[in-house]
Amino acid sequence: MKEKLIEARQYEKKHLHDADQDRPRFHLTPATGWCNDPNGFSVYKGEYHLFYQYYPYDVVWGPMHWGHAKTKDFIIWEYLPAVLAPEDTFDDYGCFSGSAMELDDDFDITLFFEDENIENDDSYRHLIIYTGCYEGERTKAEGISYQQQCIAIGDGVDYIKIDKNPVVGAELVPEGNSIIDFRDPKIWKEEDTYYMIVANRLPDESGGVLLYQSENILDWEYVAQIECSENIYGHVWECPDLFSLDGKYIMISSPQEMKGDGKEFYDGYSNLALVGDYDKEKKRYHRESVQTLDYGTDFYAPQSLKSVDGRRIMIGWMQNWDAKDYKMTGKRFFGEMTMARELSVKNGRVCQTPVRELENYHGMHYNYSSVLISQEERTFQGVEGTYYDMRVRAHLIQSGKNDFTISLRRKDDSAFTLRYDSMIQQLVADRSQAGIPQDYVCERYFPALPTAQNHLDLRIIVDRYSVEIFVNEGESVASFLIHTEGEEITFSATDPTIMDIDFYELKR
Ligand code: FRU
Repeated sequence: MKEKLIEARQYEKKHLHDADQDRPRFHLTPATGWCNDPNGFSVYKGEYHLFYQYYPYDVVWGPMHWGHAKTKDFIIWEYLPAVLAPEDTFDDYGCFSGSAMELDDDFDITLFFEDENIENDDSYRHLIIYTGCYEGERTKAEGISYQQQCIAIGDGVDYIKIDKNPVVGAELVPEGNSIIDFRDPKIWKEEDTYYMIVANRLPDESGGVLLYQSENILDWEYVAQIECSENIYGHVWECPDLFSLDGKYIMISSPQEMKGDGKEFYDGYSNLALVGDYDKEKKRYHRESVQTLDYGTDFYAPQSLKSVDGRRIMIGWMQNWDAKDYKMTGKRFFGEMTMARELSVKNGRVCQTPVRELENYHGMHYNYSSVLISQEERTFQGVEGTYYDMRVRAHLIQSGKNDFTISLRRKDDSAFTLRYDSMIQQLVADRSQAGIPQDYVCERYFPALPTAQNHLDLRIIVDRYSVEIFVNEGESVASFLIHTEGEEITFSATDPTIMDIDFYELKR
């Protein structure tokens, strides 16, 4: 193990518990210091591993390491030591995002190494592929770093970078495309071939998704550009993902520099899902629709895996580069992941619900059926707190007549409010009074269409610093960071509205 990784491991061991009293209850935070994207979300020996973009030494982005945690149920995470540090010629500027997969038992890892005496150690079956950013002497002076794809293999705790890194460098980037924006490989195996998609900036500045293939994970060839942003949906599509789900192929990405359309997308760092088909023969993705995955202020760079029981589970960074400078004072960590979510396709849309394992953490239950909500604010005994899973069904009558407001984490003047504007059939989430001291983006509108039975079903997951809202079984979803201390929940409506409230405390 090299110096910088040893140093990072020693540092995090010393500081791991400094942050404990400040952590959320159910959302993963970095062991210490800063985290951004989830990385290498994968199943290894029956457990779920999640790595993350990590700078252990401060609560700001710095030379990227990979932090590491694992879980059996996507809710309770166990910290493991950091696995990658930026200390080799091919990644001296940072070990950027990437993915991971479990190697077959008969995979021969000796081909990754120069040393002919190396053994094919069968405990090393977890493969990481990440972007090594490197700066040569000349590029350092120019203030740029180049990006190439690199490999490390491990046993679930310790990982070694292979001798033959990088495995995909500038020579495999199509002529004219950027070698500065060439990152975030997502790897998978199909029959006997390995594939990966990589984000890239094309000559016209638009974001392309490039496909590579290999028979042995070491020697790769460029195959095709399977999708691109066309400069309509932002530019570089960071952290692309591609998988089949419910008879469709879904492509997920996080576009930089999105130009909002006042409807589906907001400006800045964004996220999107394409629903469509992938022609494996022609190596071409055919999109049928484009949607936002999460309308909140805090969601970026998600990754997904197929769980042992066949579910497609996704987790994202519950933050956004646009708001990264807001820090809670005095905390030893910055950044957290969203709740892991199960994905499905319904009526041509990617829908999300919190992983079903969350229900194992339900504590006290309070149920209020058919309660009348009117202009006077109401509270309900037991319906309050900092950690909960609350379902609210609003029985709608007629558009323009069902505007209601639910305030969460409320105390004195501070609260997070969720208002339903029935005329435009949108929810308006507002965190401007939710403890954020800067004038960051605080308000978001997102679709909330009545169901066929004229209901609006909301599921609201609240943890110490976050609210995640799932509308109508996750047809639309929005995630927000908040920093209020309050626990009160109030309900009011401009016109009388009947609601059913199911409140579950969340405890561990
Ligand atoms: C996305 C991203 C990735 C990159 C990483 C660097 O948030 O910009 O494209 O690999 O973060 O930390």
